[in-house]
Amino acid sequence: MSESQPLPSVGSAQIPALGLGTAGLTDDVARTLVREALAMGYRHLDTAAFYKNEGPVGQGIADAALPRDEIFLTTKVWFDQFHSDEVRASAEASIARLGVDYVDLLLLHWPNPDIPLEETLRGLNAVAEAGLTKHIGVSNFSPAWMANAVRLSERPIVCNQVEYHARLNQDAVLATSRELAIPIVAYSPLAQGALVDDPLLTEIGVRHDKTASQVALRWLVQQPGVCAIPRTSKVERAKANAAVFDFRLSDEEMSAVAGLARPDGRRINPERMAALWG
Ligand SMILES: NC(=O)c1ccc[n+]([C@@H]2O[C@H](COP(=O)([O-])OP(=O)(O)OC[C@H]3O[C@@H](n4cnc5c(N)ncnc54)[C@H](OP(=O)(O)O)[C@@H]3O)[C@@H](O)[C@H]2O)c1
Repeated sequence: MSESQPLPSVGSAQIPALGLGTAGLTDDVARTLVREALAMGYRHLDTAAFYKNEGPVGQGIADAALPRDEIFLTTKVWFDQFHSDEVRASAEASIARLGVDYVDLLLLHWPNPDIPLEETLRGLNAVAEAGLTKHIGVSNFSPAWMANAVRLSERPIVCNQVEYHARLNQDAVLATSRELAIPIVAYSPLAQGALVDDPLLTEIGVRHDKTASQVALRWLVQQPGVCAIPRTSKVERAKANAAVFDFRLSDEEMSAVAGLARPDGRRINPERMAALWG
């Protein structure tokens, strides 16, 4: 990645295919990583009200001093704020903490079966109508929830952000996302670090002069309609994680990596996911 070579982007919202995840970064680290990632060419940042780091993420954005329209900034509304007026209040509070005039993408962080999706989407659409976000989307939505969201939303749902990495088969979500032409943003793309020393990924990496982490990320962004948002607290790793657009995995290598999927591969909230997705 370099400033002269823009990242490939995905879908109607032109989401840059690789972004910086920020969950769990402490304040100083979040500010530094955001500033340095933008300096090295990242143009997509992922945060959430729930992460309690929108302030430092916004400071990192200000430090980088880039034109605002060069950055694709995503934040999320936590699922206990899903009544229509609460969605608006959450968005306004996020934007104030971030110190920006708008975000590029506002996501519903998790489905909430206790509040009608129609009402929540009405609130989300109103936030876009008011110019507080350019695009709207969802996160952790099953294929059935995705289809409902598309049906009930006035504006396009531009992505579903879900856990996706080589240890977790997401064929059902991918099939629906392609049918609905909704990109997938892959969170925990390194399986929260579990893939960084995987022997198969390491072996494939040697062939391409890349690390196992780079192969894990390349495998995601090489799939049509898939973006990835790895998180790191280390500037050098952020640089390495972005260097995945200068090589290509063969069809055989793509299939071999897919073969790493296993039934217990899900890292984030398997119980909640089972309850929501059935
Ligand atoms: N929508 C949702 O519900 C949801 C849920 C989870 C996550 N997310 C988003 O997705 C982002 C990424 O997911 P994640 O943080 O769960 O997991 P991840 O990005 O798969 O993995 C992060 C872990 O990998 C390590 N790491 C990163 N790059 C590395 C490299 N090149 N070599 C070795 N280790 C490396 C990091 O450690 P170091 O910091 O030490 O480098 C960290 O421990 C989050 O930050 C968040 O923005 C969204």
